[in-house]
Amino acid sequence: MKLKTSFVCQQCGYESPSWYGKCPNCGTWNALVETVKEEAVKSTFARGPLAKVGVKPQKLSDVKHIEKNRLKSNIVEFDRVMGGGIVQGSVTLLSGDPGIGKSTLLLHVLDKVGGLYVSGEESAEQVKLRAKRMGITGENIEILAETGVESIVSYLSTLGNLSNLVIVDSIQTLSSDDLEGLAGSVGQLRHCAELLTSVAKAKGIPLAIIGHVTKEGTIAGPKVLEHMVDTVLFLEGERFANARILRTLKNRFGPVEEVGIFEMKGEGLKEVSNPSALFLQDRVKNVPGSVVTVLLEGTRPMLVEIQALVVPSQIPLPRRVGNGIDYNRLQLLIAILQKRLNIPLGTFDVFVNVSGGLKIGEPAADLAVAVAIISSFKNKPLDPKAAVFGELGLLGEVRSIGSEERRTKEARRLGFTTVISPKTVRSVKQAAEILG
Ligand code: TYD
Ligand code: MG
Repeated sequence: MKLKTSFVCQQCGYESPSWYGKCPNCGTWNALVETVKEEAVKSTFARGPLAKVGVKPQKLSDVKHIEKNRLKSNIVEFDRVMGGGIVQGSVTLLSGDPGIGKSTLLLHVLDKVGGLYVSGEESAEQVKLRAKRMGITGENIEILAETGVESIVSYLSTLGNLSNLVIVDSIQTLSSDDLEGLAGSVGQLRHCAELLTSVAKAKGIPLAIIGHVTKEGTIAGPKVLEHMVDTVLFLEGERFANARILRTLKNRFGPVEEVGIFEMKGEGLKEVSNPSALFLQDRVKNVPGSVVTVLLEGTRPMLVEIQALVVPSQIPLPRRVGNGIDYNRLQLLIAILQKRLNIPLGTFDVFVNVSGGLKIGEPAADLAVAVAIISSFKNKPLDPKAAVFGELGLLGEVRSIGSEERRTKEARRLGFTTVISPKTVRSVKQAAEILG
């Protein structure tokens, strides 16, 4: 049978039956590579002689559900994100920027649960060195430095039913002899992941695959694997800040809204059970432009410092620079302040920063950002024992947000006696008056 092929963009995964010089989807030049279409082979089987006869549905109420065994690492922040531990026979993809701490995190987990570390990225000695730095002796860790996916799969298939974790670091370094593309190309990624996944499923091996996101920030590489795996984790943070946040983008065996917080230290990643303390550790009190807000990450409230700096602009189109805040949201908040409070921000540069390399993903921080900007503009510090949260509407009104009670409680627990929230102020104007 003739092999079916298609042309796959190595940048975004776009598939086309014919070749283009420029990818019609993402516009990258010379990125389409001919790739064997494995689905085509499979679908002929499904229609042909291998189709099962007499398949029958059953009542959903009759389906027995047995809670699967989970491997617990006892790293609370990790287990919670996984939904209580790693499910036997499940495949997890951990993605994130290069250098963010993926190998480190999974080495910690492996140390706790025991298992095999397949390293395509580093030699056995390099992994040993890292482990040593992290205080891991490695008695219950086996290491296999290998990049040929066939060799890895053939080793895994010789194993008896294994409950130990297997880590593959990273999928981009593996390649198969069946394909021409270089390691890391979309075709190779898919094929290697497919081989690994099927052996993991057949053997009931819990498998964790590491995948880097590409420089462009799209998860072009790992993205094409997301539908093949059970769980997709994403580790994020600013490279030069210490906080790391582990998120679930997909989880067939647990909730997706949980996050795990870690701190990168000299001896590896440390769990952070009190994230507010971490994000507020460098705060300088009584300085204009500093406001503490309460963000909700997953189900957890955490206190974070927002800093703003407002200075007269030397250029006709003043600068708006946001670190950890969406640029359009920042512009919107500035516009609201100009219109509703008559603050002439049109001639001022505005810089906003979120502490700890955190990214604001909800409008709940609007009011805090606004108050920080006003505070810097007026050169008046906010009461250091005040925490601020609430969404801002276009009319300058303060709108209520989710989990206000929980946020208030967390602020009070950490000694913030004044809470400026939708419960206490109705408009940004009223909030500004608190600054005097
Ligand atoms: P690493 O886990 O190798 O990242 P990834 O696998 O995501 O590419 O971690 C990379 C960075 O973390 C590296 O720049 C050094 C730093 N690091 C520490 O600060 N402390 C440590 O104990 C370890 C192991 C790494
Ligand atoms: Mg690594």
